[in-house]
Amino acid sequence: MIKCFLTGATGQLGVELQHTCPPDVELKGVSRDALDICQDQVVSEVVGRCRPDIIINCAAYTAVDRAEQESEHAFAVNARGAANIAKAGVKCGARVIHISTDFVFAGTGPVPYRPDDATGPVNLYGASKLEGEKRVFDITRGSCLILRTAWLYSRHGRNFVNTMLRLMKERDLLRVVDDQIGTPTWANGLARAIWKCVTISDMHGIHHWTDAGVASWYDFAVAIAEEGIALKLLGHSITILPVPTKEYPTPARRPACSVIDTSLTRRVLGLTPPHWRVALRQMLQEYKERSNE
Ligand SMILES: NC(=O)c1ccc[n+]([C@@H]2O[C@H](COP(=O)([O-])OP(=O)(O)OC[C@H]3O[C@@H](n4cnc5c(N)ncnc54)[C@H](OP(=O)(O)O)[C@@H]3O)[C@@H](O)[C@H]2O)c1
Repeated sequence: MIKCFLTGATGQLGVELQHTCPPDVELKGVSRDALDICQDQVVSEVVGRCRPDIIINCAAYTAVDRAEQESEHAFAVNARGAANIAKAGVKCGARVIHISTDFVFAGTGPVPYRPDDATGPVNLYGASKLEGEKRVFDITRGSCLILRTAWLYSRHGRNFVNTMLRLMKERDLLRVVDDQIGTPTWANGLARAIWKCVTISDMHGIHHWTDAGVASWYDFAVAIAEEGIALKLLGHSITILPVPTKEYPTPARRPACSVIDTSLTRRVLGLTPPHWRVALRQMLQEYKERSNE
């Protein structure tokens, strides 16, 4: 049995990791109520009592826009909290898998970012996550696995798919930005890839994982509408208009193109992620089945 300690267990990815946990893993998932990762002494005690082989850190401050006003909070969780987890891991000899983001990149490059490409976050959330990566890497002397992902969604929590489904039920017309490009990624598929990472004990350093393909938020919204109508999750068609970012200003700047290159990780894991639209269809199918239960 592999003993695994999971933080952020009630978040999108945490829930999917629990749903997909393999039978040979004994998983202890903790929510923020049970363990605030900002409290270094408590983290050390709780992790020490569990004596895990692996820690998966999914706990994060993920409110990208609010982080511009609450940078202290974002850094407390994403940098210092991540460091507390890494220290606790080193203390009890556990391997640390730390989840990070495409938002560590500036998003100005024309090609997908590789794990060793130069970072340059354009907002405070990205800066706090980058600082967390550096601290986890230093504390574990590079023995950790830092897995960056992007544009996560799942049936649970606040994400683009759930927001769009709600708005599409309420409105006949939506405007969605078409000049930010990334890769929508179903948290369920990412969770399965993480469990594969767990089995490869010498996998360390920085890796990237998303579903395959690229999309703008506009493309993503159109796909949600089409798949939603096909599955009868939506009762009427909706007009979706592409708009430039400058017509939809947000407190935090976003990278224009934050596609990340997953080829190294695909090779190491021997896995091929599905195209994002295939994963979206599967997620919406499950969404429908569960809401009918
Ligand atoms: N969402 C995305 O689009 C996206 C994209 C790229 C990378 N990522 C990264 O992927 C990872 C998982 O993201 P997600 O989408 O699952 O995020 P999420 O749904 O926001 O979940 C984050 C979890 O962390 C918990 N948390 C917040 N502050 C904490 C603290 N001080 N101590 C302990 N737990 C705390 C939250 O609890 P509460 O709910 O109680 O606050 C929540 O359960 C994160 O590292 C994130 O940066 C996400």
